[in-house]
Amino acid sequence: MKMDIKVTLTEQPKARPTDESKLGFGKTFSDHMFAIDYSAAEGWHNARIQPYQPYVIDPASPVLHYGQEIFEGLKAYRTADDHIQLFRPIENARRMNRSAERLCMPDLDPEFQVEAMKCLVEVEKDWVPRSAGTSLYLRPTMFGDGAVLGVHPAPVYHYFIITAPSGAYYARGLAPVRIHIEDNYVRAVRGGVGFAKTGGNYAASLKAAAEASAKGFDQVLWLDGRENKYIEEVGAMNMMFVLGDTLVTPMLEGSILPGITRDSVLTLAKDRGMKVEERRISVEEILEAYEAGVLKEAFGTGTAAVISPVGELEYKGRQLIINNNEIGPVAQDLYQTLTSIQNGSAADPHDWIVKVC
Ligand code: PLP
Ligand code: COI
Repeated sequence: MKMDIKVTLTEQPKARPTDESKLGFGKTFSDHMFAIDYSAAEGWHNARIQPYQPYVIDPASPVLHYGQEIFEGLKAYRTADDHIQLFRPIENARRMNRSAERLCMPDLDPEFQVEAMKCLVEVEKDWVPRSAGTSLYLRPTMFGDGAVLGVHPAPVYHYFIITAPSGAYYARGLAPVRIHIEDNYVRAVRGGVGFAKTGGNYAASLKAAAEASAKGFDQVLWLDGRENKYIEEVGAMNMMFVLGDTLVTPMLEGSILPGITRDSVLTLAKDRGMKVEERRISVEEILEAYEAGVLKEAFGTGTAAVISPVGELEYKGRQLIINNNEIGPVAQDLYQTLTSIQNGSAADPHDWIVKVC
């Protein structure tokens, strides 16, 4: 798709955060956004970079009633020699289209989505933070708009990208997180929309997360929605276990997000000669592996969370302290390898990096 992106710069640039150690995740937004609109008659049109601004939408807008909304998350990194680069943006664009297809929303050429990301990041290059572990988080989003209350796909769509300079997703950084294995609520079922990055999946997760948080847990680990037996994923990350000398992660069956970090970590682990398995993992298997001393490490993977070691798992009142509540060697090593590729301090053997400027 060939389309010009019209750039209108803000006349009122905001003050950028000065203390990068306090960035946190998604709390401050940069000066501009990318936006493009869709209607059946016109297709995608009016591609633009514009000052960050609100949308005015009709109260009858389908997104408000039936939740036609999808999003993505990826990061731009500043390298030591002051270049800026994206990590596997085409995978986010492709996943956006898979989510769009499931939610009956229009797709947008992945190459064009990457062009839009690059164009926006170049405009916002001064917003890409410099400190170790920081980045500019990009949030591509699409929602259904118009003014019709029938339950049908929306007549109009808006796709936009906003950006937020960000540090660690979890307040504790690389310190191990405490996770509650949820045995009551479920997040998604096979055949549903679990694999799509759509707002409703996250709305459905809030109550369990709030209840777990009240008990001191950082996140919830979901079990499958049919048998309440197999490990699925955590609120914002895929789950991996080191069982003996094997890296094991739940297979993709339609109910979990096919994480780009997950795929990258599996590739890097194979590069290092590690045995890797994608398969069903029952919670019972994890409990037994723990008792047998075979459960060496557990960690989550995600764009926002990067690689987050899990120090404690709790299931029906049973507490599993993993690797003495410390980050293990596999997680540490994969974290180092992955982040070095992302921030340009190591070679990029899989061509994952896209240079912006
Ligand atoms: N699972 C869920 C539910 C997520 O929201 C995310 C974050 O995007 C992930 C997994 C990890 O996916 P990725 O590695 O593509 O960021
Ligand atoms: C991401 O890792 O990009 C996410 O989207 C996770 C989350 C904050 C929903």
